[in-house]
Amino acid sequence: MKTEELFKKRLERHHDELRWLYMELYNNGDMFAELCDKMRTFAVERDTDLLAMDKEREANPTWFRGNDMLGMMLYIDNFAGNLKGVKEKLSYLSSCNVNCIHLMPFLESPKGRSDGGYAVADFRKVQPELGKMEDLKDLARACHKKHINLCMDFVMNHTSEDHEWAKKAREGDGEYMSRYFFYDNPAIPTEYDRTVPQVFPTTAPGNFTYLDKMGYYVMTTFYPYQWDLNYKNPRVFNEMMYNFLYLANQGMDIIRIDAVPYIWKELGTQCRNLPQVHTIVRMMRMICEIVCPSVLLLGEVVMEPEKVVPYFGTVEKPECHMLYNVTTMATTWHSVASRDIRLLKKQMDIVNSLPKDYLFLNYLRCHDDIGWGLDYATLKDWGMREVEHKRFLNQYFTGKYEGSVSRGELYNDDPVTQDARFCGTTASMCGVESALERGDENSLSAAIRQDLMLHAYMLTQSGIPMLYSGDEIGQLNDASYKEDAAKKEDSRYLHRGKFKWDLASKKDKKGTLEERIFSGLAKLEQIRRSRDVFKSDAAVYTYDVKDDSILCILRENEKERFIAIFNFSDEAKTAWMEESGTYENLMTGEKLELVNLTVQGHDFVWASKIK
Ligand code: GLC
Repeated sequence: MKTEELFKKRLERHHDELRWLYMELYNNGDMFAELCDKMRTFAVERDTDLLAMDKEREANPTWFRGNDMLGMMLYIDNFAGNLKGVKEKLSYLSSCNVNCIHLMPFLESPKGRSDGGYAVADFRKVQPELGKMEDLKDLARACHKKHINLCMDFVMNHTSEDHEWAKKAREGDGEYMSRYFFYDNPAIPTEYDRTVPQVFPTTAPGNFTYLDKMGYYVMTTFYPYQWDLNYKNPRVFNEMMYNFLYLANQGMDIIRIDAVPYIWKELGTQCRNLPQVHTIVRMMRMICEIVCPSVLLLGEVVMEPEKVVPYFGTVEKPECHMLYNVTTMATTWHSVASRDIRLLKKQMDIVNSLPKDYLFLNYLRCHDDIGWGLDYATLKDWGMREVEHKRFLNQYFTGKYEGSVSRGELYNDDPVTQDARFCGTTASMCGVESALERGDENSLSAAIRQDLMLHAYMLTQSGIPMLYSGDEIGQLNDASYKEDAAKKEDSRYLHRGKFKWDLASKKDKKGTLEERIFSGLAKLEQIRRSRDVFKSDAAVYTYDVKDDSILCILRENEKERFIAIFNFSDEAKTAWMEESGTYENLMTGEKLELVNLTVQGHDFVWASKIK
């Protein structure tokens, strides 16, 4: 079928619902007609290889749900200098078993006012030192040849203050001012501030920025140089969708919709997760299915589970294809510090009871800080109070708590709410850095064990595991950001250091730190990939082994029973259980009886029985 006809067919499938939602928000038939027209243009402009992929993936809609998916997120400059450099390093990524890479923001963004690239000045231009749009296309093609999927951010909540629209708005052009939120006096901003919480309470307090020369306030939920877009204006929605499709057409497989809960604002509300946000995401999903059906949407919803799950939409009206498993991530680190897995077990039970079509992206840490978004109501029942517990966690992970081996820094330490978040690499949080400082081999072994145990636990979960570049060789915190005026206020750069290729080369030398972590991970990944029991349709439960430090997870299908046991304590503990039959320890190949099994501190067991 010709592309044009295919487009018509795909449009027909969604037209009524798309029009309905569009008219509900904008009541503007002309703008809707323009949107459809442009969608047609983007559809026919897609490269032949992408068109072929669209058909292939449309015919196999579960293509991304396999147990072979493994992601890695990286900054282009930190990892390989520029886009061409990344292309040259693809075989390293393949050697990490990675088949999906998330390129951290790389579009044009002003120096020193970029929020790590999340303040986009031009959605159609690559940051010059990283390369050109053509290099991105070329990288996408090279990735596809190696069966690697490419993911990029679509920062849709705001633009940089240097974006062409922002510049025109600053000159007082009404048409462009209406694309943002402008107020000539503080009355409405003050009203908003009454109900809208702060994202960066210490590094960027408030939700508005006063523009001196202009005499106007502009809404800036994030940094003052990130101006919130006004999606009540259909011109904003349309133009941003054209940007989105333009980027999709460069060969993206996954588009991460950044900070999506924030995109709709309503006075008197928290301006998060409003119903109109879901209308927009649903429209984006349909637009994708009409123009570029091979592209997946990954929603960035860093919120509590009840807020996250609605972004999957419903079976008939899906929204995002995948979402971050953020509460599980934060709860994992709570368990590391407290050596108590009860809350993690509860969290896993919640996730495991969700429909199996919900696909989560599992991770231990990302480029952002770790916020302590835990289930405090439950912790309260167990005698832990929110403020005190957060203080404990922050003291623990900054290494100030007695017996803590973690190293890291606080992020947005808010004296008012006494809330602070946390930054550090996985290895530094697990104690690798402090063990190296002390030159203590036993502590180093324990730290490596903990690092691998946490990765094994991440890989045990259903969904797509996502590594952070450098964690595969146990890279440590990098404090050099403090010498860079543009970065020094933002401690997230502590765990966004340059990739150390000299250390990476040690991954092949037996006994080095890098080799111990890299080869341990490789083994886990290879086991995960080769067994159907890791597919997301397997039944997954937690298993009570009567010790609050031991998390036990059972995965099962018709052929295999897989049991994973993780000891979150630093001491040996016994998993009180009685399983019939003989299991195989998948890491060592040894036979194993799962009867009251003792697991050493910070260690884990992956055991399997073929039925
Ligand atoms: C997302 C990004 C974060 C950025 C923010 C604003 O949360 O992950 O790094 O600061 O959006 O765009």
